[in-house]
Amino acid sequence: MAIDLLLGLQWGDEGKGKIVDVLTKKYDIIARFQGGPNAGHTLEFEGIKHVLHTIPSGIFHPKATNLVGNGVVIDPVIFKQELENLAPFDINVSESLLVSRKAHLILPTHRLLDAASEMAKGKAKIGSTLKGIGPTYMDKTGRNGIRIGDIELPTWKEKYAVLRDKHLAMIKNMKVSLEFSIEELETAFFDAVSYLKSTVSFVDSEEYLRIAQQNKQPILAEGAQGSLLDIDFGTYPFVTSSNTTAAGACTGLGIAPNRIGEVFGIFKAYTTRVGSGPFPTELFDEVGETMGRVGHEFGATTGRARRCGWLDLVALKYAVEINGVTQLMMMKGDVLSGFDELKVCVAYTYRGETIQHLPYSLNADEVTPQYKTLKGWHEDLTQMCGEKELPETFKEYVAFIEDFVETPIHIISVGPDRTQTIFRSTE
Ligand code: GDP
Ligand code: IMO
Ligand code: MG
Repeated sequence: MAIDLLLGLQWGDEGKGKIVDVLTKKYDIIARFQGGPNAGHTLEFEGIKHVLHTIPSGIFHPKATNLVGNGVVIDPVIFKQELENLAPFDINVSESLLVSRKAHLILPTHRLLDAASEMAKGKAKIGSTLKGIGPTYMDKTGRNGIRIGDIELPTWKEKYAVLRDKHLAMIKNMKVSLEFSIEELETAFFDAVSYLKSTVSFVDSEEYLRIAQQNKQPILAEGAQGSLLDIDFGTYPFVTSSNTTAAGACTGLGIAPNRIGEVFGIFKAYTTRVGSGPFPTELFDEVGETMGRVGHEFGATTGRARRCGWLDLVALKYAVEINGVTQLMMMKGDVLSGFDELKVCVAYTYRGETIQHLPYSLNADEVTPQYKTLKGWHEDLTQMCGEKELPETFKEYVAFIEDFVETPIHIISVGPDRTQTIFRSTE
């Protein structure tokens, strides 16, 4: 049975957590394939809001198995906190949560290195979530990393000490003023490692998934971040350190490309970005301020205000193509209610020429968006349950996007709750 993928198509925070939760009833296994606690995936149902960082978003469904794949990087301290947050919800995590032995560990010194690197960059900082993501992936690709499976080995603490000492020497050399107590950090780290060892099951996940495929179990791979934060295809260097695009699911889970079925691409009806880096359609006026306020655009992981702007269809089309998206899901259309007119970017002026693809650089001094103006709507969408109820001008907005990116929108989300989800029949 083919494995379906679900990916963010913008700069993250598109609403992946909500949609994975909504779709989980159709799947036996939900598998995260990259990123780590830089992700903040929000789920809302029965009046409660849950934010997950490492744990896949199918965890609230009793029948689903949730797998943290080899491509994910894990901070045991944050993972432990997430597991403790689940305690009131009667979830048997020892059965429903599996972790790949090949997933890499974020050490306390990876977090320190992330902070030191950002300090050293000054104004040119990436705006990282400071969760140690970049340094951990650097150690992985540099072949120095420690994997979760290592903690089952008797020599792992020696291995840990070698890497820690190397990191501490690096931090010293960076000559930034960073205050920390390594003893305190290590106490929390080792405590969390022991907790994980006794709470969740470590597996050879590629073998687990091979057998699941053989048994025809439906599997959904859950992406983190978004395509424009991809290490290769995003707005480098203002990106994260993993492949957030469809290819990342192959390497992050051990899935062959020919086993991929549907590719669900999620986007917001406008655009947001948190952290530094170019953002051609960013708004600095009261329209952007309204989007941020109505959409509660604050990072689920860091609490930082997200930058807001118009929907960029050039960037969306690029993401659709690079991922091979087969179905789109449009989130947060409800946030745009109340504007007389809406703009969508349909081309860029780049170095004096009109282009319709994502150029090498998206920097503001080289790229100016060209907009098409569409009619807005004033109705409150949040209580609407079916496509027929949606205002005509909203439907025109949807049709314009589908036409531009040549891909159908199958789900329209009109609020954060599970129930505020409209399934469209696009036939
Ligand atoms: P993720 O990282 O892609 O899972 O997205 P986040 O959870 O970081 O951010 C999405 C935010 O939008 C969360 O606060 C969600 O509860 C909220 N949300 C999701 N879908 C909708 C929607 O259709 N309308 C509104 N108003 N909020 C939504
Ligand atoms: P989810 O999965 C939005 C951004 C950071 C920063 C850049 C690099 O919730 O959509 P990192 O800590 O990865 O080194 O930071 O990437 N970033 C995200 N932005 N949503 C996320 O995840 C993000 N994860 C990282 O803000 O600009
Ligand atoms: Mg998020």
